[in-house]
Amino acid sequence: MAEHKDEILLKVNQVFNPPERVLEKALISAEEFDKIYQKSVEDPEGFWAEQAEKELVWFEKWEKVREWNYPYYKWFVGGKLNITYNCLDRHVENGRRNKIAYIYTNEDNQEIKVTYGELLEMVNRFANGLKSLGVKKGDRVVIYMPLVIEQMVAMLACARIGAIHSVVYAGFSANALRMRIEDAEAKVVITSTWTKRRGKKIDLKSVVDEAVDGLEFVENIIVFQREGDEFELAEKEIDFNELMKNQSPECEPEVMDAEDPLFILYTSGSTGKPKGVLHTIGGYNLYTHVTTKYVFDIHEDDIYWCTADPGWITGHSYMLYGPLSVGTTSVIAEGAPDFPDPGRWWSIIEKYRVNIFYTAPTAIRLFMKYGEDWPAKYDLSSLRVLGSVGEPINPEAWIWYYENIGRKQCSIVDTWWQTETGGHMITTVPAYPQKPGKAGKPFWGIKADVVDKQGNPVEPNTVGFLVIKEPWPSALRTCWGEPERFEKYWNEIPNVYTAGDLATKDEDGYIMILGRADDVINVSGHRIGTAEVESALVSHPAVAEAAVIGKPHEVKGESIKAFVILKQGHEPSDNLLKDIKMHVRHELGSLAVPDEIEFVEKLPKTRSGKIMRRVLKAQELGMDVGDISTLED
Ligand code: WT7
Repeated sequence: MAEHKDEILLKVNQVFNPPERVLEKALISAEEFDKIYQKSVEDPEGFWAEQAEKELVWFEKWEKVREWNYPYYKWFVGGKLNITYNCLDRHVENGRRNKIAYIYTNEDNQEIKVTYGELLEMVNRFANGLKSLGVKKGDRVVIYMPLVIEQMVAMLACARIGAIHSVVYAGFSANALRMRIEDAEAKVVITSTWTKRRGKKIDLKSVVDEAVDGLEFVENIIVFQREGDEFELAEKEIDFNELMKNQSPECEPEVMDAEDPLFILYTSGSTGKPKGVLHTIGGYNLYTHVTTKYVFDIHEDDIYWCTADPGWITGHSYMLYGPLSVGTTSVIAEGAPDFPDPGRWWSIIEKYRVNIFYTAPTAIRLFMKYGEDWPAKYDLSSLRVLGSVGEPINPEAWIWYYENIGRKQCSIVDTWWQTETGGHMITTVPAYPQKPGKAGKPFWGIKADVVDKQGNPVEPNTVGFLVIKEPWPSALRTCWGEPERFEKYWNEIPNVYTAGDLATKDEDGYIMILGRADDVINVSGHRIGTAEVESALVSHPAVAEAAVIGKPHEVKGESIKAFVILKQGHEPSDNLLKDIKMHVRHELGSLAVPDEIEFVEKLPKTRSGKIMRRVLKAQELGMDVGDISTLED
């Protein structure tokens, strides 16, 4: 074991050249990638116009490629399109009618396949159904569903008619869901009866019931009933399949402006409530298409599997819009990665001959714990490209992924991006040399750098802030109802987009992401704001004050630790601890529940009363607490 550790350290500083079989197939070579990059940053407008002509179908051409009134920007101004036309109709019209779009599977090994032709028909029927309920262009629709094909249908149907979808991950609590429904003033909520995880049914419908209680503006709740359900519909409720049944399988795609909104997706920030990140149609369609094609090196016969969930941006960009726009076949799998046993994912790869596999470091670390014998039982030789996303991948996990899943015959692409960026920003392409733990280079058209607080580039291998110097096509356009929060991204460091991550850049230009620079915790690749957890904690009747930090965790990357001061008259106890955890689960969802809660008498604060989480964290990890001259006590 110890020997292996040394070996790993050696490998970290080593460059991994792509395997021959990857190079032979690759759509672009490393040299071509560099050449195109050069061109793309010298003339971003020319570059993106060329891609937009080549890769997408437009109903009407744009008048202007980019308009930039700092900090606001538009892409393909005046251009008209419908993203579902690019994702469905054009494939059906051009020989992919019978190509499979999705292969669905679950913990019971059930299998459902839908072709592009069938998917288009489902989307049209559901789109007509939405119209029949009075849903119009610009209306908001909240989707709270399990990972089933019907969720994809619901999202695409919104896009078909120009409604704005806002998907909420089905692990969020009723309160978290309610906040999002209220903020977006959703006219319709689409849900399902349950999802299944580790063999257990998890009720979703009751969560929605609680979330919409008393919200007059929610006109309808559409319920996808699953096999075996016999469910009584209440007032306002409509059955998903019934709604589709009597509708026409044809629905003209709404002619949308390139800058019309496509979706809102809420994500945590360092302060306050989650922000509603808004993406628009044209630039997003183009950027997710181009990155899907080249970063994953997708060929016509490839089978692609992204293990995310549509509740997160990865699901939007790389399970739905990117792969469908490219016309690929995707696997989707409902349920836990290691149930009924830790071979489940590898058996899916073997069964469907998956070529491209995209997952998160937290999952890789989970499988490392189960040991290499599990993947070794399966034939994984179909794999060619492995992807990583959501958090920094530690070199040990990179090597394990490379050796045990890729069998040294695959390229790894470590894609850095965010809900706000819409698509991959820093990565390598499969034909590019890789360095374990380093995401790589900016993608085409992206001017990224690592700078100090004033915006000056730092020396190679020195820690700084990761910034993007110009708007790119899939950049967020605003935060729903809160333009000041949008503007903050572009004026924290003047004139550039500040990502909120710390990074270094080496002599070869490879960027390594070190983690968040702000009060955001990354638990299993999911962003959780310390402020959100703290406000959930203090809303418990026994809690007076709370502070939350992220702690390194073997599998999750980071785990949440909370320090809590109790109100007078309350004593620390195991029962109270459990009750506080339950309370956070109810307020936010299980993702945000602290692993540890410590009852304390005092919290370190500045003289102006701000909690110094940095001091708590240093103490917790036994590190130097640094400058504490502003500490009150
Ligand atoms: C934050 C964004 C992008 C989809 C999933 C998360 C971290 C994401 C990487 C990576 C290091 C990464 C960053 C970023 N992150 N990918 N490959 N290497 N860190 O989206 O919830 O918007 O979170 O995730 O800290 O800022 P998100």
